[in-house]
Amino acid sequence: MNETLLTIKDLSVTVHDGSEKKILLNRICLDVPSLSIVGLVGGSGSGKTTTGLAVLKLLSPALKIDDGEIIFQNENLLKIALSKLQQIRGKAISMIFQEPLQAFNPVFTIGYQIEEVLVMHTTLNTKQRKEKILSLLDKVGIKDPKRVAGNYPHQLSGGMRQRAMIAQAIAVDPRLIIADEPTSNLDVTLQARIMELFLQLRDELKLTLLLITHDLGMVSHISDRVAVMNQGQIVEQGITKEVIENPQQEYTKKLLGNIKF
Ligand SMILES: Nc1ncnc2c1ncn2[C@@H]1O[C@H](COP(=O)(O)OP(=O)(O)OP(=O)(O)O)[C@@H](O)[C@H]1O
Ligand SMILES: [Mg+2]
Repeated sequence: MNETLLTIKDLSVTVHDGSEKKILLNRICLDVPSLSIVGLVGGSGSGKTTTGLAVLKLLSPALKIDDGEIIFQNENLLKIALSKLQQIRGKAISMIFQEPLQAFNPVFTIGYQIEEVLVMHTTLNTKQRKEKILSLLDKVGIKDPKRVAGNYPHQLSGGMRQRAMIAQAIAVDPRLIIADEPTSNLDVTLQARIMELFLQLRDELKLTLLLITHDLGMVSHISDRVAVMNQGQIVEQGITKEVIENPQQEYTKKLLGNIKF
């Protein structure tokens, strides 16, 4: 196994609902080795998104991290200064969300929104930024980058928007991308293409990917490791092939029962 890029240790998250305390994440542990794709799978409400958001301390204020450590490049993200964390967000770690229409601002063009990231995290001048935007859009398989850069999010198809979102996520060479259901609103053919793109980018750009999805079928195709979540706990994790061929937990068997290989 490669060196570990991200380690989540005994992470517990709770929410206070009136006088009741509800446990959303119950001492979860997860290892994400460098240059790997790790699938985080589980049913709706199992805590996948909460886990992804907790890594960057982006949880809504009602949610509290009670315990645990999130070690990224040998630092505990739960302990470092906010200014340092803000440097890591969007630079060393970037996130891709399920619905790019929500993640992109509807009133700015795609090019403008990718440029914002470049302005924030690089010293490129205007001309260099324009060139970089076109090369990023080209890298994610967009055929005419110039037009797309000038388009508003709603002018693109779902698949194109998702690619543009990935272009934005890789704009400043992150080490880790957390992708939360990146393809669940796309049809099966487009899903497969986006997955291929992730594999290609991992190898070309030396990326590490935490792929959050309810789709164990997709994970079985592209991820090196898989962690299975149920009701706020990671019930099983390991090398994808081993988990799929020899699941230890009833819950994993149930998830596997629903998919076709
Ligand atoms: N802001 C919040 N306030 C109260 N409960 C919350 C909040 N955010 C999440 N939860 C609860 O935490 C649990 C885990 O939610 P989470 O969104 O992490 O699940 P998920 O695995 O991503 O589900 P899905 O597959 O539907 O996206 C759910 O029971 C959810 O209702
Ligand atoms: Mg979710």
